[in-house]
Amino acid sequence: MRIGMLTSGGDAPGLNAVIRGAVLVGTTVHHHEFVGFTDGWKGLVENDTLPLTRHEVKGISKQGGTILGTSRTNPFEGRGGVDRINEVFAENRLDALIAIGGEGTLAAAKRLTDAGIRIVGVPKTVDNDLDATDYTFGFDTAVQIATEAMDRLRTTGDAHNRCMVAEVMGRHVGWIALHSGMAAGAHAILIPEQNTSMEQLCAWVQSAYDRGRAPLVVVAEGFTLDGADEPHSERGLDAFGRPRLGGIGELIAPMIEARTGIETRATTLGHIQRGGTPSAFDRVLATRLGMAAIAAVNDERWGEMVALRGTEIVRVPFEAALGSLKTVPQERYDEAALLFG
Ligand code: F6P
Repeated sequence: MRIGMLTSGGDAPGLNAVIRGAVLVGTTVHHHEFVGFTDGWKGLVENDTLPLTRHEVKGISKQGGTILGTSRTNPFEGRGGVDRINEVFAENRLDALIAIGGEGTLAAAKRLTDAGIRIVGVPKTVDNDLDATDYTFGFDTAVQIATEAMDRLRTTGDAHNRCMVAEVMGRHVGWIALHSGMAAGAHAILIPEQNTSMEQLCAWVQSAYDRGRAPLVVVAEGFTLDGADEPHSERGLDAFGRPRLGGIGELIAPMIEARTGIETRATTLGHIQRGGTPSAFDRVLATRLGMAAIAAVNDERWGEMVALRGTEIVRVPFEAALGSLKTVPQERYDEAALLFG
């Protein structure tokens, strides 16, 4: 078979390991050929290709980013659409496409599959918010990076007796905040799923401070402040028309300082969480997903994506990934909150 491959949406550490896993097993075991499309759906629509042989994937599972490039492009916009994509399939003599991406990518993949295009998906998001898979690659790495940053914030916080606010990624869900905050021993964690009042937050900060600790507050970018209707956004919209988030940490730091009198500093970790070397866990998960995507192509399971359930790689229809977000359950937050303050 000739198989196209693209990575789309925000990058996540482990994308290259997926590509390598798929290409290695595809070429060496099944004698498939591969065509890489550059910068997500954009490359497919514009027929911008890269060779994808065993040579190109040599040693890449430890590299962050994606050798194919990525973008938040909608394949139905501009000169895109079903006819154009069928044309590019024909020009490249493709039998199938593997689309690696998050919710937006999988939604587009579903529309295209419904129109008869042969696509298998691999889920990707550092936020870990896709319901159909227990974990997505990139999440473990993001949590590790955020935890290390918080460990550092704690030593400088201790030195100055300051409250330190660490803002992490998490557009709709607080998984990165919950896990990194718990790992770093945060005194408060604010996530999109929970309404936490400034009063409660300051009570936790004060109680930690009164015990002689330098309070650490972790806030997910998608947290909505008490009284606000939406998460804080001051950076306009992204290519899908969604507000670009970031800056909530800087917003709440002076509020904490004003209410408690404790000197407070904020740090936004931002894209540092998505960059660099993937963890061993993410490399293994990504490699297995890439290999499983080839098995799904061999079995012609169009409209399905590979996913992690427990320790097994399974196949689920695209719609299972699109139905609902995997939010932090109340009991997981309550468990973490027992240690706040
Ligand atoms: O969806 C993953 C994510 O990292 C979100 O946590 C964040 O809001 C968004 O992507 C940032 O996107 P961009 O890289 O386009 O700024």
